This record gives sequence, structure tokens and C-alpha cells, in this order.
Amino acid sequence: MSTSETGPAHKLLILPGDGIGKEVMREVRRVIDWFQRRRNIAFEVTEGLVGGSSIDAHGLPITDETMALAHAADAVLLGAVGGPKWDNLPFAIKPERGLLRLRKELELFANLRPAMCYAALADASSLKRELVEGLDIVIVRELTGGVYFGEPRGIETLPDGQRRGINTQVYTTDEIRRVARVAFELAKGRGNKVTSSEKANVMESGVLWREEVQRLHDEEFPEVELEHMYADNAAMQLVRRPKQFDVIVTDNLFGDILSDAAAMLTGSLGMLPSASLGAPRADGKRPALYEPVHGSAPDIAGQEIANPIATILSFAMALRWSFGLADEATRLEKAVEHVLSGGLRTADILQPGTAKVSTGVMGEAIVRALDKVTI
Ligand code: IPM
Ligand code: MG
Repeated sequence: MSTSETGPAHKLLILPGDGIGKEVMREVRRVIDWFQRRRNIAFEVTEGLVGGSSIDAHGLPITDETMALAHAADAVLLGAVGGPKWDNLPFAIKPERGLLRLRKELELFANLRPAMCYAALADASSLKRELVEGLDIVIVRELTGGVYFGEPRGIETLPDGQRRGINTQVYTTDEIRRVARVAFELAKGRGNKVTSSEKANVMESGVLWREEVQRLHDEEFPEVELEHMYADNAAMQLVRRPKQFDVIVTDNLFGDILSDAAAMLTGSLGMLPSASLGAPRADGKRPALYEPVHGSAPDIAGQEIANPIATILSFAMALRWSFGLADEATRLEKAVEHVLSGGLRTADILQPGTAKVSTGVMGEAIVRALDKVTI
């Protein structure tokens, strides 16, 4: 194969995190090695700790040093954080705070969560094949605002001794417009339809969300079809007739929930990548973090049965969105499809007539397929 490119190395920070994060990231390392060796693409890879593993080493879910590495990287690839060992820690130093700090300080306001159903996996969905086969939707979740970060927040004790828990749902015009803009731009290159989801029937922040999305649409994207849908209805429509959607844009909390529902439609949480993007910097690069949608799955960690595909496809998203290597991303996605149609499956996507393989064998098979696929 010919030399693919020259130029400065792509700076990638790898944060395996906890649980199966470590196992699946090892397979991504093999994929990265393949691109260095066979496509002559230079990556400068550094590795750091996040979540429980960082708490164990440093007493914090992420350190300032690791944050500095994240700021300096072209992209961050994260495995997963959390596990029962750290469940009872004070809120401010839980493993999840490491992830939330990365999202907030890198200003990764747009979280892209594609839910695609591979034909080879349509029977693994909890819905009927005809409802999900060929499904290809993207949820654009606002990631740095809303109830996740709103103030005031906390738990207070009232004069009568009761306690009161408080969180605040808050959005500004700019926060809504910048994430909606990502959704409209994305839709233009796909099915040209955006569904914006909120609870404008009960929340003022939802009313503002609806008005601002509509205004941006009318000003800048009149050619894109726009519909508004209450979040509860969107949840129902997702399991009723998911193929009606193209791009769904929604807030942080509704996006968290709707994206889990959408993920399950595809047959396996173990298959789905995600990208979290910030605004382009002066040099044109945008801060970015890529991670599988699945969590750290402590119940199966260390058993070599986790599916590495979501993390490998997250690296494919990094190739496309951060490194400007769309063809190489396609190559990797095709290699994954090739292995799936060949009948290899990790336990989570096992079907009658397919062969059950370990995390490592799945990774190896994808690397071998990279040698075969053409784009
Ligand atoms: C997700 C997760 C996180 C979230 C947790 C781990 C903080 O559920 O990325 O969807 O709620 O955003
Ligand atoms: Mg979630």
C-alpha cells in the first residue's frame, strides 16, 4: 500500500478509564499500530488515567496534569469510567466527575451519538427486524449545559429538618444556537431533517429552546426540514418507528436518556461510538473527545468478553472529525462490517449460527480485515 500522508503527527490522548475500558482500548492500540505501519500515518499517542483508576492513583477522578494533556491533544479517546468500588465516594470526586470535567473544560458542547443498525445485527435488536434494519440516526446532545451543570445545585436541610435536593435546568440563547447549528449542518450531509426535542409544554427553558432552534432554522437553514417534538413523545416514537428520524437535537438530560434508548435499538450498546466536539479554535482544530456509548460494565470487566467495536468505531470517528482522514475512517468501518458479516461475534451480539469470540480475537480479526478491505 502506498504512503498515505506526511506532516506532523496526530496527537491523541488515550484514557482507558475503568472496567472494560482497559480491555477494549488495548484492541484500539492494535488498530492504531496498523494505521502507523501500513498506512504510514503518524500518531503521537500518550496515555493517562481518568475515573476510578485516577482516584486510586491520585485521589482525584482526573488530575490537572491529565487535563493539560487533554488540552494539548488533537483528540482524546476515552474508554469508560466508574464501578462499584467508587460508588460511595462524595459527589465531587466520583469517577464520573472526571468525564464531566473534560467535557466542561474542553467546552465539548456537541455530543454526536449515531445509532446505526448493521443488517448483520438486526436480529439482536429488541425490536422487530423491519423496524430497525438500515436504521441510521444521529442524536446531537447538548453536553456542557442544562441540569448537569446548572446552579444552584445541592442538598440542603430545611428548618423543619427535611432535606431538599436542588438542580437547575438553564440554557442561554447561544448555548442552544451553537448545538442546533451542529445538528442542522450535520443533517444537510445526511437526510436533511432535524427533530428538536424538549418539554416546552412544562418548562420555560424548553420554550426558549424551541423558539431559538426555530429562529436559527428560519435565518440560516430554511432548506432543512425541522420538526419539534416533546421529549416524552420522542422516546415513544423512537421505539415505535425509529426510522422516521434523521438527526435529533436535544438538551443534556433528555439527550442522555434518548441516546440510551436509541442505542438499544441497534442490537448492542457494544457497537456504538460517540464524538463530543467543541468550537473550532484559532488554528481551525476543534477540541474533541471520542468514547463508546457503553459504560465500564464492571460485571464483565477482566473477562476478555467485552465488545471492542464501539471504541474502535470511536477511533474511526476521530479519524474523520479530528484528523481529516475520512477515507481511513471508512476503511476502518468497512473492516468492522466485514468481520461482522463473516460471522464473528462477541458475547453481547451472539446470534444462532455465529461464532463467539473474545475481545482480543475480535480486535485481531478487525486488524486482519483492514488488510483486505478496499475503499
Ligand atoms: C453518558 C453517561 C454519563 C452522562 C455519565 C457517566 C456521567 O451516562 O455519557 O451518557 O450522564 O452523561
Ligand atoms: Mg448516559
